[in-house]
Amino acid sequence: MIKVGIVGGTGYTGVELLRLLAQHPHVSVAAITSRSETGVKVCDMYPNLRGHYDTLAFSEPDAKQLGAMDAVFFATPHGVAHALAGELLDNGTRVIDLSADFRLRDADEWSRWYDQPHGAPALLDEAVYGLPEMHREKIKNARLIAVPGCYPTAVQLGYLPLLEAGLIDPSQLIADCKSGVTGAGRGAKVGSLLAEASESMKAYGAGGHRHLPEISQGLRDIQQLADIQQTANTQQQPIGLTFVPHLTPMIRGIHATLYGRLTAEPGDLQALFEKRYANEPFVDVMPAGSHPETRSVKGINTCRLAVHRPGNGNTVVVLSVIDNLVKGASGQAIQNLNLMFGFDENTGLTAPALMP
Ligand SMILES: NC(=O)c1ccc[n+]([C@@H]2O[C@H](COP(=O)([O-])OP(=O)(O)OC[C@H]3O[C@@H](n4cnc5c(N)ncnc54)[C@H](OP(=O)(O)O)[C@@H]3O)[C@@H](O)[C@H]2O)c1
Repeated sequence: MIKVGIVGGTGYTGVELLRLLAQHPHVSVAAITSRSETGVKVCDMYPNLRGHYDTLAFSEPDAKQLGAMDAVFFATPHGVAHALAGELLDNGTRVIDLSADFRLRDADEWSRWYDQPHGAPALLDEAVYGLPEMHREKIKNARLIAVPGCYPTAVQLGYLPLLEAGLIDPSQLIADCKSGVTGAGRGAKVGSLLAEASESMKAYGAGGHRHLPEISQGLRDIQQLADIQQTANTQQQPIGLTFVPHLTPMIRGIHATLYGRLTAEPGDLQALFEKRYANEPFVDVMPAGSHPETRSVKGINTCRLAVHRPGNGNTVVVLSVIDNLVKGASGQAIQNLNLMFGFDENTGLTAPALMP
């Protein structure tokens, strides 16, 4: 049994970590922080957890207490993990950060997108991007994990087989993505009110969203790794991605519709996707002609994909759905923890999705 702490336990990803870890046989949650709810019992604030965490209460973040854990999850806004991660790592505590603090490898680029200086550039070299379908072996030995963002997870998993196979023009990618309102966190915001967000849909960040550099970096990594594996060392074409996120009136879920321009006769695209993900426990390639629904992944760590080639033309369309709070955040964080500590990768993550 390992002991873990969660910084930011009152937010949506924090409480999702608690829900999923309640079923994990090798993990005990020994510390959970909230500055605003210090002293409040977890099950008093979240009655869905009654019977699972009856004595655990929120406390102020304390480096000494957190440093006594085997691993600490950061389910906090950006900038918080920067301040604490170094001290925890020095104590031998592994860090799994759900925020964007360690996702971009370039500290200057991070500070341009997040409007503040990077708080821990010295740790960037050792941070591992926690997308197991790409970096499984590195994750196993990592001390510091940057859990991918929700949109970046859905988009990268959708494009991965096509980019690896060199079948689409990387300079003409279009990702049209929709998210439920929990993607914006639990903090009170006018845009998340029922009267504002329901029965309406809108795009946002069309001119440049913070997930754009993360997705572009990840797609470049896919190209690079594919080149190394094929020892082709081909001239890499730059990634050109148009990414437009939308807010939709649902609570959980990401739906990504991904477009790619084929550069060659692709052969059997369905077989390509099925083969690439045959051994991936959390990627489900649906039968040819399918249209995956966000509700089919509600509460689970699965990304469901379908690939289409409309009219047998030169555009390929990939449909990718995840639960933003699970494969897009807390479930993927636990998948990383399982790999880091040598547990079966799917431990605690096997329950089927909610329906309806
Ligand atoms: N929501 C999603 O779908 C999603 C998906 C992928 C990644 N993420 C990322 O995951 C992180 C958490 O997201 P969320 O949606 O769970 O956020 P949230 O609902 O807004 O919760 C944030 C949590 O962080 C704590 N917190 C805030 N400022 C803090 C500080 N300075 N020091 C310590 N704790 C602090 C808050 O509690 P107190 O203020 O009481 O301390 C709260 O528990 C974010 O970086 C987000 O971008 C979210």
